[in-house]
Amino acid sequence: MSVSELKEKLEQIEREALDEVKQAATSAGLEELRVNYLGQKGALTVVLRGLGLLSKDERPAVGELANRVKERIASELAARKEAIYRSELASKLSGQKIDVTLPGVGHQLGHIHPLTLVSEQIVQIFFGMGFSLAEGPEVETEYYNFDALNTPEHHPARDSQDTFYTDVGRSVLLRSQTSTVQVRVMEKRKPPLRIISPGRVYRNEEINARKFPLFHQAEGLLIDRDVTFGQLKGTLNEFIRLFFGRPLKTRFRPDFFPFTEPSAELDSQCPFCLGEGCRTCGHRGWLELLGCGMVDPNVLEAVGIDPEEWSGFAFGMGIDRLAMLKYGVNDIRHFFSSDLRFLETF
Ligand code: DAH
Repeated sequence: MSVSELKEKLEQIEREALDEVKQAATSAGLEELRVNYLGQKGALTVVLRGLGLLSKDERPAVGELANRVKERIASELAARKEAIYRSELASKLSGQKIDVTLPGVGHQLGHIHPLTLVSEQIVQIFFGMGFSLAEGPEVETEYYNFDALNTPEHHPARDSQDTFYTDVGRSVLLRSQTSTVQVRVMEKRKPPLRIISPGRVYRNEEINARKFPLFHQAEGLLIDRDVTFGQLKGTLNEFIRLFFGRPLKTRFRPDFFPFTEPSAELDSQCPFCLGEGCRTCGHRGWLELLGCGMVDPNVLEAVGIDPEEWSGFAFGMGIDRLAMLKYGVNDIRHFFSSDLRFLETF
């Protein structure tokens, strides 16, 4: 090939190469072009090898042109490579977008047990009436559970079919009522007194929808001068109004408890049907809510409080029962099942 033919060939290679490089769309396509032009068997390389056939005088000019062509192609390849890399990266990134609106992996928060909730509601209502919290042990003595509460020797509650005794013997038992706290408080503190005491109690009973060997009571005690049954009624009526969120009719039916005289069972009008009769009240229109009465003088005397100077009233309510009534729970066992489907409804 003559010098001018070679030069023309080089310029043609340059035009074609630059043109194709501009149009390359992928880095793979670009790599192919590099091999085709600059590779060992590439078009440019083949021409450069032909330089050897030229005379010494002719060689420099053609060699110079060939190098310039090589450089331009190489630099165009590099520029195009950079551009393709950027656009490939951009489309990769837009295809793999992070969805920041996806919900995070949260931790499930626990919440208060319904019995704790109702216990808290009861206590808060009595706090509002000037009562304060008192607590007593669940493992008790026969003295606090029965004797000091004026319970006769052969009272059926003392039977081991009703009360859990311990291996220690009859003198140590699981308390069957929170009334024990009345005695413990009066032994330690001087009247006037107003306490509310929620807690666990135990009875040796067969399990069914309404009974469980472990349940909860809240005990109230007020000791002062000249306390009347009217004050007991007013206090409990107010409690019922606040607990169910509306004023309800109540009735006090005579009953018997060894530690109160007179004693009564308090019924309230059913807060759901207002006396019409519904499933919650068993179509009676009334709910039996709690036991109460005026503190028996024998109980005061046993703890060294003069019944001539001091009098008082007491009451005890089942927390589980109140929770069942308030929230329409039809089986006491739900409270102890640890079934999250039940617990999460509160
Ligand atoms: N302790 C009684 C029970 O478990 C309930 C009770 C009745 C408590 C009358 C009292 C009360 O304080 O005065 O059945």
